[in-house]
Amino acid sequence: MNDPIRIGVVGTGRGKTFMNPAECTGLKLAAVCDRRPEKLAVIKAKYDTDGTLMTFTDYDEMLKSDIDAVVLANYFNEHAEFAIKALRAGKHVLSECTAMSTLSEGVALCRAVEETGKIYMIAENYPFTKQRLEIKRVYDSGELGEMLYGEAEYCHPMSNNTTYKYAPGEYHWRNQIPSTYYCTHAIAQIMHITDTMPVRVNGFVPQIKDQSYREYEFRQQDSGGVIVCQMDNGAVVRTLQGAFRTHSGIARLYGTKGSAEVERQTGNVVIYHSEVNGKELEPYRSYEADWPEHGELASEAGHGGGDFWVQYYFGEAIRKNEQPYLNVYRACAMSSVGILAWKSVLSGGMPFDVPKWDDEEDRKKYENDNWTPFLKEGDDPADHPPRAVAWKPHPEARDRAKAVWEETDYLGLGWSKKDIDMSFDKINMN
Ligand SMILES: NC(=O)c1ccc[n+]([C@@H]2O[C@H](COP(=O)([O-])OP(=O)(O)OC[C@H]3O[C@@H](n4cnc5c(N)ncnc54)[C@H](O)[C@@H]3O)[C@@H](O)[C@H]2O)c1
Repeated sequence: MNDPIRIGVVGTGRGKTFMNPAECTGLKLAAVCDRRPEKLAVIKAKYDTDGTLMTFTDYDEMLKSDIDAVVLANYFNEHAEFAIKALRAGKHVLSECTAMSTLSEGVALCRAVEETGKIYMIAENYPFTKQRLEIKRVYDSGELGEMLYGEAEYCHPMSNNTTYKYAPGEYHWRNQIPSTYYCTHAIAQIMHITDTMPVRVNGFVPQIKDQSYREYEFRQQDSGGVIVCQMDNGAVVRTLQGAFRTHSGIARLYGTKGSAEVERQTGNVVIYHSEVNGKELEPYRSYEADWPEHGELASEAGHGGGDFWVQYYFGEAIRKNEQPYLNVYRACAMSSVGILAWKSVLSGGMPFDVPKWDDEEDRKKYENDNWTPFLKEGDDPADHPPRAVAWKPHPEARDRAKAVWEETDYLGLGWSKKDIDMSFDKINMN
């Protein structure tokens, strides 16, 4: 192992996942940035094991420090701007999903990676659960033939109170995100297993009239988004993402010779073979997947082990000085699927082409496409596309949300006032 790769993490919600990297990743936490200083005090008390951890409230200041790489776990719709700044400051970038929130940002991001030569990776963790890695192994062996159809889902329901807590403030990204935008968890699994890219996208949302089952919801989002993609091998892929009432993380694909899926109830991998005249050529097999390597470390990590692999592959890419599999082109492709699907939803399901992100001539067409449903304070909603089609405001939702934001001091995911108070007590005692 060479010298450790000194990382600076931006954002202390999801960002905490990256603050204690396994030694074999080669990453070392050197700096943390968050605009809320009271959060930084808690982080320092917990993660500063040798007294060298730098903390910043100003991202530009962190970029002036001697870190090698930044990990972006800031707001969902602000990643591209932060990534481009880091690349231009000579830092490698591991960016949480999504890569960008407009097509023009995607163009600028690809150019920044090409011009700086720095490593860029999207921290998309769902392809790296042991079940998806096993399906990839089987697919690569040729046993399933070529993908004809695939599907993957990422549905994550939350109670209203939890949503209010995680989305503190009217303009917080979680309160504005259209239901197709959080699509990378689903589409990335199929892209990785089959090594295919999306080329055309259609989007749909359920539009039942009676929305009262979603009582008191403040987040301006339809219950879920359905995306249908044509892939570059000709296959069709369907994804579902959103906050339906039950969790789902299914992955399933049908090939020319057989099919594979992650069984929802058991988490087993199931392989089926082609049927000829109603007869299976071989019986199906259902089994618990195993890790290819580093199983113990991966098992301890979040999101079914994916959080470990993302850090591992990022470290490896920097050490080898080779762009990782989840490079900027795949990052922009999977992220643009959500944007284009939303354009499609608002156009009655019309298809939209995915830009060829590695082709300057093609992507140049999108360099001024700043279309975004995300508003900043003071923006006029009339200047932006809507964030939802069927969602209806509940007259009491805003007041209920506000009460929770005030009670939790707008701290957001992974934080409570108790954490802050306890840490200040501890700091004051020392
Ligand atoms: N891959 C996964 O499984 C997974 C899971 C959760 C979240 N995420 C992604 O991680 C990202 C962060 O998610 P979250 O839930 O922690 O979001 P969040 O909004 O709760 O937290 C963002 C953090 O960034 C800080 N921040 C924002 N702007 C900043 C700035 N300009 N300077 C310094 N700090 C700033 C905020 O203070 C906050 O602590 C999102 O893009 C989300 O999509 C990914």
